[in-house]
Amino acid sequence: MTDVALTPLAETALARLLDAAVTGADPLEVMPPVDDPPGWTPARRDAFLAFHRARSLDPATAVERTWVIDADGEAVGAARLEPRGDAVEAGIWLTRAARGRGIGKQVTALLLAEARASGAATFVASTTAGNHGARSLLAGLGAALTTNGDEVAAALSLGPAGESAAAGREW
Ligand SMILES: CC(C)(COP(=O)(O)OP(=O)(O)OC[C@H]1O[C@@H](n2cnc3c(N)ncnc32)[C@H](O)[C@@H]1OP(=O)(O)O)[C@@H](O)C(=O)NCCC(=O)NCCS
Repeated sequence: MTDVALTPLAETALARLLDAAVTGADPLEVMPPVDDPPGWTPARRDAFLAFHRARSLDPATAVERTWVIDADGEAVGAARLEPRGDAVEAGIWLTRAARGRGIGKQVTALLLAEARASGAATFVASTTAGNHGARSLLAGLGAALTTNGDEVAAALSLGPAGESAAAGREW
């Protein structure tokens, strides 16, 4: 089985993450849209770095914790947890070559453990109706999935460790 580890984001890890994104993912899968020609242009690479610095690395603006996903020691994506009230919102992206190999499932288990340790009451995530991988991953956790148009919201109540009671929730 692939050895999967979460490395807390810092400048060195961010450089590895950008390399992984440029090599193996489309910009729109891993960052907000940038008004520039398609592809990994210099402006989009700068925006990727600025996005993570603002959201995770700069204490003045940070809103979430981000980790580089290392599979057998190589960066293959990112995972994040963002507190939202008494819930915590999770997000994951993997490079194309890393998808469909069980890595997302292992990362989700690690994120759930982090979410529990943070004291959050609920683990939430959102995806789109057409994202079968993400939907399958979230349903597999026992999360309650609510569809609204193209949006799919997932919520899993975080009981004591070992308990996996699912509960619906609005947020
Ligand atoms: C979504 C994503 C994180 C899933 O991670 P993954 O490593 O590919 O998923 P896994 O291999 O761990 O599979 C987990 C489950 O989903 C299923 N699955 C994975 N990809 C699937 C697909 N494309 N279609 C249907 N089911 C799929 C697996 O069969 C597995 O189900 P099982 O537990 O019943 O065997 C990953 O594919 C990805 O990064 N996609 C692009 C970015 C993205 O969409 N991020 C999420 C935005 S909300």
